[in-house]
Amino acid sequence: MTVKVSIIGASGYTGGELLRLLANHDKIELLYATSREYAGKPLTTVHPNLRGFFSGMKFSDVNIDKISSDSDLVFVNTPAGTSVNYTPKLLEVGLRVIDLSPDFRLKRTEDYELWYEMKHPRPDLLKEAVFGLPELHRKEIASAKLVACPGCNSTAALLSLIPAVKARIIDLDHVAVDVKVGSSEAGRIPTAGTHHPERANVMRPYEASGHRHVAEVEQELSQIAGRELKIAFVPHAVGSVRGALATSHVWLVDSNMDEQDVWKVYAAEYGKEPFVRIVRGKPYQYPDPKHIIGSNFADVGFAVEKRVGRAALMAAIDNLVKGAAGQAIQCMNIMLGFDEKTGLNFPAIRPV
Ligand SMILES: NC(=O)c1ccc[n+]([C@@H]2O[C@H](COP(=O)([O-])OP(=O)(O)OC[C@H]3O[C@@H](n4cnc5c(N)ncnc54)[C@H](OP(=O)(O)O)[C@@H]3O)[C@@H](O)[C@H]2O)c1
Repeated sequence: MTVKVSIIGASGYTGGELLRLLANHDKIELLYATSREYAGKPLTTVHPNLRGFFSGMKFSDVNIDKISSDSDLVFVNTPAGTSVNYTPKLLEVGLRVIDLSPDFRLKRTEDYELWYEMKHPRPDLLKEAVFGLPELHRKEIASAKLVACPGCNSTAALLSLIPAVKARIIDLDHVAVDVKVGSSEAGRIPTAGTHHPERANVMRPYEASGHRHVAEVEQELSQIAGRELKIAFVPHAVGSVRGALATSHVWLVDSNMDEQDVWKVYAAEYGKEPFVRIVRGKPYQYPDPKHIIGSNFADVGFAVEKRVGRAALMAAIDNLVKGAAGQAIQCMNIMLGFDEKTGLNFPAIRPV
């Protein structure tokens, strides 16, 4: 039996990526793919890469009653501050929801108010939502009604740091994360800073202080550490369309540690993870988004500089796949008891 799935916000970049990946998932049936702007038009009007898939299906309007009565599970892919209008209604009628927006990622109401500068209309759901990073919350995701998937920058930052924080091998009070991310992270509607002539060929820091993803990274790292952690975080816009690379600069507690010691820590944490690969050895010795584009893999690696007792911990992902749609499908597979790799078990395209 197939599971009936719908997507609210299917004409955007993460929506398009969900459609591309679900086209290859044999355990689901796609019911509704919404777009207010393109309702009634074929999916291929916006996503020409889907020609030949979904039998000429058209975008539908956001009709919550219909979606609720016919679907088993819904992906909500709408902008920040918007999904709060849909997700609670879907949950009320017993559906399971995977929300890719930031609306339910933070646990504490006061954090949401601080970082998003508004009151959350359903603080009860903040507590109920499970943060959708399988490498941290696989067990809770399995039984969750609402999964709030992390942002792309946060996914890369967290995957670079989780083993080191869990094993307490770094100074937890001095962690500086630098993320480079491609233009598709900003969604499909161009703005003054994101439209192509402004964005092409850039290497530009943005929101160098106070980026909202800091809140969810600190929340998850604090939970692992068992105390409040704060990080420094600077994202950079780069000219590629896809990809995110996090480099976390940290100081080792034991300055005698070498790369082999750090590898052991990472291998113990990620050895059985289906979508995390530890990168070592020349010539491709560090994670590079170029080698994971289009796939759900996260490549993780590190370098140790013994002279100063410092390490650089790195993670590369495709922001639209492991940073969004692929991770959401990974969560869906876990929630529905499918093999976690269903529909996602393929390598990146190369060269790209
Ligand atoms: N891009 C990334 O790399 C990335 C990664 C992780 C998470 N996310 C998060 O995922 C969400 C979607 O991102 P995106 O990049 O796909 O954005 P996008 O390209 O701008 O797409 C947004 C989608 O939401 C729909 N939409 C907008 N306002 C709506 C409303 N009020 N009611 C219903 N539908 C609405 C749009 O279609 P219509 O306007 O036609 O209805 C469109 O389908 C955002 O919350 C973003 O923060 C993005």
